[in-house]
Amino acid sequence: MGARWIKIAVLYFLLGVGFGLYMHATVQLQWGATHAHINVVGWLTTAAIGVIYSVFPQAGNSALGIAHFWLYNMGLPFLLFGMWAIYAGLPGIVIQIVVWGGGGALALSIIAFILNVFKNVHSSYLSRT
Ligand code: HEM
Repeated sequence: MGARWIKIAVLYFLLGVGFGLYMHATVQLQWGATHAHINVVGWLTTAAIGVIYSVFPQAGNSALGIAHFWLYNMGLPFLLFGMWAIYAGLPGIVIQIVVWGGGGALALSIIAFILNVFKNVHSSYLSRT
């Protein structure tokens, strides 16, 4: 599971840097928060999760790990789209649904992750490898 997370993370890295270059080139700095979330949540946080689940594969492959994977990866694109849409002039109701839906799924995934770490990440695993 760890490798899958890392592959998704590098795609966000590409998107975040590309978006940053576009913002810089066109001087459209209103998307700074969206750019920052693509890079910091999409790239850095996703990569950190991938490394943790690579070191502790029993956590990444657990039921909580699978729930974490799907809630996070379904929720984050909607949250980012909603953040982008705020300055793209989409109707407020669309933004509310997308941000609450995506952000809610992401928040649930983070709860699943924290529970998973306490339940399935054990230092004894490291000493066996
Ligand atoms: C080629 C690479 C990148 C370019 C061209 C770029 C470009 C930009 C631009 C134009 C801004 C807006 C600055 C402003 O509002 O005055 C910005 C903000 C920001 N960028 Fe990047 N960026 C790049 C990579 C990254 C990476 C890799 C990260 C994090 C891992 C990152 C994190 C941030 C953060 C946290 C902000 C502040 C957002 C805010 O205050 O609203 N950027 N970047």
